[in-house]
Amino acid sequence: MPERTAEDLAMAIQPDRGARQSLSEQIVSALRTRILNGEFGTGEALPSSRRLGEALGVARSVVVRAYEQLYGEGYLEARPGAATAVASGIVAGILAGPGAAILTGTTSEGHLSALPASASPTGGPRGTARPIDLRPGYPFANAAVPVEWRRALTVAAREPLGSYQPPHLGDPRLREQIAIHAQRSRGIRCSPDDVIVTTGTSDSLLLIGLAMGAGRRIAMEDPGYQEAARVLQRTGAVIEPVRVTAEGLTSAQLRRLALRPDAVFVTPSHQFPLGGRMPAAERTALVSWAVEHGALIIEDDYDSEFRHTGPVLPATAALETSTGAVGTVAHIGSLNKSFSPSLRCGYLIVAARSPLGRAVAEVKADLGSSTSAAIQAATASFFASGAFRRYIARTRREYRHRRALLIEHFSKHGMADRLTGTDGGLHAVLRLPLGRMGTAVAAELGGRGVLVDAIAEYTRLCGPSAPPDDAIAIGYGAESTPRLLEGLDEVSRIIGR
Ligand SMILES: Cc1ncc(COP(=O)(O)O)c(C=O)c1O
Repeated sequence: MPERTAEDLAMAIQPDRGARQSLSEQIVSALRTRILNGEFGTGEALPSSRRLGEALGVARSVVVRAYEQLYGEGYLEARPGAATAVASGIVAGILAGPGAAILTGTTSEGHLSALPASASPTGGPRGTARPIDLRPGYPFANAAVPVEWRRALTVAAREPLGSYQPPHLGDPRLREQIAIHAQRSRGIRCSPDDVIVTTGTSDSLLLIGLAMGAGRRIAMEDPGYQEAARVLQRTGAVIEPVRVTAEGLTSAQLRRLALRPDAVFVTPSHQFPLGGRMPAAERTALVSWAVEHGALIIEDDYDSEFRHTGPVLPATAALETSTGAVGTVAHIGSLNKSFSPSLRCGYLIVAARSPLGRAVAEVKADLGSSTSAAIQAATASFFASGAFRRYIARTRREYRHRRALLIEHFSKHGMADRLTGTDGGLHAVLRLPLGRMGTAVAAELGGRGVLVDAIAEYTRLCGPSAPPDDAIAIGYGAESTPRLLEGLDEVSRIIGR
């Protein structure tokens, strides 16, 4: 097929400047419709964003935004050093024959989505194809490097490589940006001195665990984030699992424990993995409990940026300043989930003047800087230019779209009331019909090339207090829209049997 010129494509798109849809959205829907109609060949190259922008008479950034959105949805693919191209899987799915693509229509957010035929229309395993990864915890993998991130890296690349390692607590510019971000988006009044740059949640937990010293009792939500428990255990902590519901751990449960814990690990903005949110009153009660007992709250604030319904509640660490309980909350943020796990950048916020703040700083001085100077400099400029906020806003729209597809899918299959934990984040929980076990369903799906996690995998409790093995967690962050829908189809097929 002869390569389509930018002018041909511009003629086909013809954006309307007076329309309510933005120019970028119009380009997205025009291209998406044409891809779905099979008007593009497998792997067909698209004109560069600059050439298409010129042909359309719009800024290049408008086309870049449209391409980025289509990458995220899985309609386009980027290969290093090669032109942006139409993703081959989509075209094959659409061309596979009548009914191969089920157009699910337009969602509430104006996205048109298509379900390519599964690799095995009769419902057999997906063979050796790359598994569809619907495990929770994996964010959107942006095949296209966001332009603003590339720019931030270029700025950072101009900085000379020094003779010394970066400051052990972090690049002061990044610490300042994180303090501004924490105040603006999480309500935490902190100074850059209270911020320590780490490689992510596990690194922050390592610092806290080492600073607290071995033998401390740490209460943890159960089901909960098992990696956190493992890291803390490696520092000598004794983990005390507390059985929770979606809203998380309560101070009443802590008061009932036979041995008072020295700390409690919580995920208040989105209980991991059940997906609920800790009510504001419970957060206050938790801080009061911690102050009363001289205990520490370790707040894992992962994916709080992605709230889909209901107001965003300030972090628990924001209550610390209003109650005067300085040093009671250690707040952990991670850019690995909101931006990319390959970044390895996160932060720990703890009052520098508190005993824990001083102990953590000492441990960090021994360990040295963990995140490279270039990544810190780039991340600081990504924040400072407003690009991080814009990136999060775009990603949030993408997750909302996928969440809408998830809800629509299970509604269509009569399972809407089984789906919980959809108010925020990038995964949801599906309760299984009576008699079906989460671990068995996850294993069966795994055998058919679709990865999900049984909620039971996130528990440390056994015996009568263990939660029932009756649910699975479904992540909708990492896979493209067509693959997500293909995976969901398999989930419904297995559960419906
Ligand atoms: C509950 C929870 N917290 C935090 C993180 C981020 O971890 P890290 O920053 O160590 O990559 C994840 C990632 O999956 C997670 O599931």
